[in-house]
Amino acid sequence: MNSKGENMDINDFEYANPNAAALMQSLRAFGYDISTAIADLIDNSITAKAKNIEITFDWNNGEPWISIIDDGYGMDEEELFEAMKTGGKNPLDKREADDLGRFGLGLKTASFSQCKRLTVASKRVDEGVYIRCWDLDVVNEQNAWILLKKASDTAKEVIDNYFKDNKNGTIVFWEKIDRIIPGSRINDEEYQDAFLDYASMVKNHIAVVFSAYMYGYNKISFKLNGREIDMWDPFMSELSTKMPQEILYVNGSEVKIRPYILPHQSKLSPEEFAFYAGIHGWNAQQGFYIYRNNRLIVSGDWLVPGMEKLEQYRLARIRIDIGNETDTEWNIDVRKSTAVPPISIIKEIKRIAIASQKESSKIYRHRGKKLARKGQKEQFFVWHQNIRHGKIGYSVNREHPIIKKLLDSTLKKEIKELLDLIEETVPVPMIISDYSEKSDSMLEPYEGKNKNDFDDMILNMYEMYIGWGYTKKQAIENIANTEPFIYAPEKIGLFCEKEGIDIE
Ligand SMILES: Nc1ncnc2c1ncn2[C@@H]1O[C@H](COP(=O)(O)OP(=O)(O)OP(=O)(O)O)[C@@H](O)[C@H]1O
Ligand SMILES: [Mg+2]
Repeated sequence: MNSKGENMDINDFEYANPNAAALMQSLRAFGYDISTAIADLIDNSITAKAKNIEITFDWNNGEPWISIIDDGYGMDEEELFEAMKTGGKNPLDKREADDLGRFGLGLKTASFSQCKRLTVASKRVDEGVYIRCWDLDVVNEQNAWILLKKASDTAKEVIDNYFKDNKNGTIVFWEKIDRIIPGSRINDEEYQDAFLDYASMVKNHIAVVFSAYMYGYNKISFKLNGREIDMWDPFMSELSTKMPQEILYVNGSEVKIRPYILPHQSKLSPEEFAFYAGIHGWNAQQGFYIYRNNRLIVSGDWLVPGMEKLEQYRLARIRIDIGNETDTEWNIDVRKSTAVPPISIIKEIKRIAIASQKESSKIYRHRGKKLARKGQKEQFFVWHQNIRHGKIGYSVNREHPIIKKLLDSTLKKEIKELLDLIEETVPVPMIISDYSEKSDSMLEPYEGKNKNDFDDMILNMYEMYIGWGYTKKQAIENIANTEPFIYAPEKIGLFCEKEGIDIE
């Protein structure tokens, strides 16, 4: 039968089964790193209702192995066989609401991305222990889907040790970890250190991705090499300002969104500030965090095309919670590390992003403005009104620090001429006419312009004032009262933070 229900003629088609060796190799290239790969295995353990998940990195004298052991409900022999097959499950099937899987691939693709031998041993309550193993070298040599029923001696020891007390659960065991440790590295200290660094990276990743499972009534214990992994809460929930939660809908399913505005550095101890900077630093950690069934998929991304990460937005972190029933709409990938908001809600996402960015900027603007208020009364504007022969004109303020500096340079003659030229030709009648007709659509100073150039300008002026013998605080107060910085108090706030200048 073909897709239209008609009988198919044997002459009209041929079977095109994949080549085992080639396909298995391709499965290695899904783009995981060691952290995302292990997180994908933990997804399976959580779906299997595990309460304890233990990860072990064992250097094993240069023949390293990694295991993930869970006390979830395990698999019987048939389930284990299906689990080891690639494409054992159809991604279109409906899943239990708390299932973290989707594609029927993760166990294999995540494992093969890092290792060439994957052994899984599993046991359900009242059932025996079953073992299956893919060894890519065997598949390659035989070019056939040969699934072994035996574990290596090393794996067997770990498996026997765990199941000796008749516990249920699953062990995933990786050997021939060629992606991070190529070849056999007996006693190679550098590789051993690197291996342990990877372990620590994985620990940090788990602390973020599964933090929502690490507390509360149903909490799960996560251990790495015997030590409990502590959660890392990107939202500093206890200390941050929570904006109201909003609920959007995608195909009738709820999308919960809650922005958090984190406290400014001055309100945190140096330890807290360093801790909450996260793995990638304060700047990189701003933006949306998407949780699918409480499991973090995307961390710190504004999600809206063209929306940049800016320093003044770095106190804004926004939690989005989605379920697994809208995986297609969100374009969830096999690695569970990307999600794209559906077009139907992108406008709302943008609105919430802008509102949160404003709240974060406000904190920096407030700090900058405070300085401007504290400073001397004199403000340096670029334009002045002047009267010549009883008539009104407009001139550029020669005392403005930026102009003054230029007028001290070797180009002072040309600059004077240029200023004269500009002053004498200001199109006053055109401005008056535009202003009276369309005052609402006149640009504000620097509206819509990227103010990143201000950073260098502020630094230059700051150095200039310091060179003239001003104190750090006086220098900053002067700058805060000078056009154009009056329009970007957040830049002044950020500059003080960087230079360690106390505003209070
Ligand atoms: N630790 C485990 N405990 C119990 N069952 C497991 C475990 N790991 C895997 N399985 C079973 O094996 C199946 C295949 O796992 P795999 O990770 O390859 O795909 P998935 O979780 O269904 O989807 P995804 O590709 O999105 O991860 C799972 O659906 C589950 O039935
Ligand atoms: Mg999975």
